[in-house]
Amino acid sequence: MFYDFSQKKPALFLAPMADVTNPAFRFVAHQRGADFTYTEMIHSDGFNHGDPYAKNRGFSIDEIPYGIQIVGNSAESISKAAAGLENLFKPAAKVIDINMGCPSPPITKTGCGAALMARDFSAANHPASIVRSVCDAAMFPVTAKIRIYKDDEKTLRLAKSIENAGAAAITVHGRTRDQMYSGVANWEIAAKIKKELSIPVILNGDIVDEKSLQTAMDLTNCDGYMIGRGTIGNPFLFQKLNSYLKNGELETISMPDEFEARVSDLNQYLILLKRYDLLPHVNVRAHSQWFTKGLPYSRAMRLKINDLHNDVKIRSFSDEELTVEREALGFEILNIFNEYADKCRKEYCEQV
Ligand SMILES: Cc1cc2nc3c(=O)[nH]c(=O)nc-3n(C[C@H](O)[C@H](O)[C@H](O)COP(=O)(O)O)c2cc1C
Repeated sequence: MFYDFSQKKPALFLAPMADVTNPAFRFVAHQRGADFTYTEMIHSDGFNHGDPYAKNRGFSIDEIPYGIQIVGNSAESISKAAAGLENLFKPAAKVIDINMGCPSPPITKTGCGAALMARDFSAANHPASIVRSVCDAAMFPVTAKIRIYKDDEKTLRLAKSIENAGAAAITVHGRTRDQMYSGVANWEIAAKIKKELSIPVILNGDIVDEKSLQTAMDLTNCDGYMIGRGTIGNPFLFQKLNSYLKNGELETISMPDEFEARVSDLNQYLILLKRYDLLPHVNVRAHSQWFTKGLPYSRAMRLKINDLHNDVKIRSFSDEELTVEREALGFEILNIFNEYADKCRKEYCEQV
C-alpha cells in the first residue's frame, strides 16, 4: 500500500492542484502535517514527448513520499507515462493517480480528465479499462480520482469497476463535471462508496476547517480526507486540523501567532522555489497574495503587493532573468508581510 491507512488518525491528503502543488508547496504542506501529497497533474502526452516541465512538477524535496498524478486521454499514453514517471521518481514517489475529474474545457476537449468518465461503459471503452492498463504497465500501485455522476448508482458502478480493475484506492470529489467548482460537494455518495468498496476511499470537496472535517468524518467514515482550495496559501491549515484530530477540540491560536506561521510558511516556500529552480514556473506575486487570505490587513497587503514593480510580467525573460526578478519580488513581498505581522502583534498586545 502506498500509504498506511491502518493508523488511528484519519489521513489528511493535499489535493493535486495545477499551478499550486509544486514540489516546494508540497514540502511546506508536509511540514505542516499533510500526511500525503500529490503532484499537479502531469500531462501524459507532454511527458511522453519529453516536456522538461513534467520533471519540474514531478520531483519531491527531501524524498518525502508522494503521489504522481497523470492526466491523459488513452490507456496507452497514460500507461507509458506512468512507467516513465515511476522510473524517474522512485523511490520517493509511491503511487500513480489517474485524473478522471478535471472539468476544465481545455483538458476535457482533448478527451482527458473528466472526459474519461463520459466514456460509455462498454467493455473496451470503459473508464476502468484505463485503470487496468495502467495497473498492468506500472510497478506502482494505481489510484483514480473521480467526480460523481448525477446518478448515484452509476457513480457506484464506476467506483466498483475501478476497484475491480486493480486500483489501490479511490478519491471521490463529490461534484459532477458540470458543477465545476460550484455548489456543495455531495458527501453522501462517498459514504455509499465507502460502504461498498474494500479499497480505501478518500473523500474530497469542501473540507475547509475543523468543523467541515468533523462533519465529513461523521458522515462518511472514509479512510482519508483530501483538501484542496482550503490549503492554497494556507498550508498551516494542516497543522490546525491535526491538532483538532489529536485533541478533539479547536486550538486557540492568537491572530499574531497565526500571522507569523503564515509568514514563516511563505518565507520557506520562497526559499525552496529558489533553491529548486522553480521560480521561472511560479507566479510569485499571485502565490504570495494567496498567503494573505483570511489574515488581518489582507486587502492592504494585496494592494501593496500589486503595486510592486511589474517586470516579472515581461514574457521575453529568460529563466535566469525571471529567477532574479522573482527572487527580488519575493523579498519585497516578505517585507510587506513582516510589516503587517508586526502591526498585528502590536494591535493585539494593545487590546489584551
Ligand atoms: C487551482 C486548482 C487546480 C486544480 N488542479 C487539479 C489537478 O491538477 N488534478 C486534479 O485531480 N484536481 C485538480 N483540482 C481539483 C482539486 O484537486 C479538488 O478536487 C477540488 O478543488 C475540490 O476540493 P476542495 O473543495 O478541497 O478544493 C484543482 C483545483 C484547483 C482549485
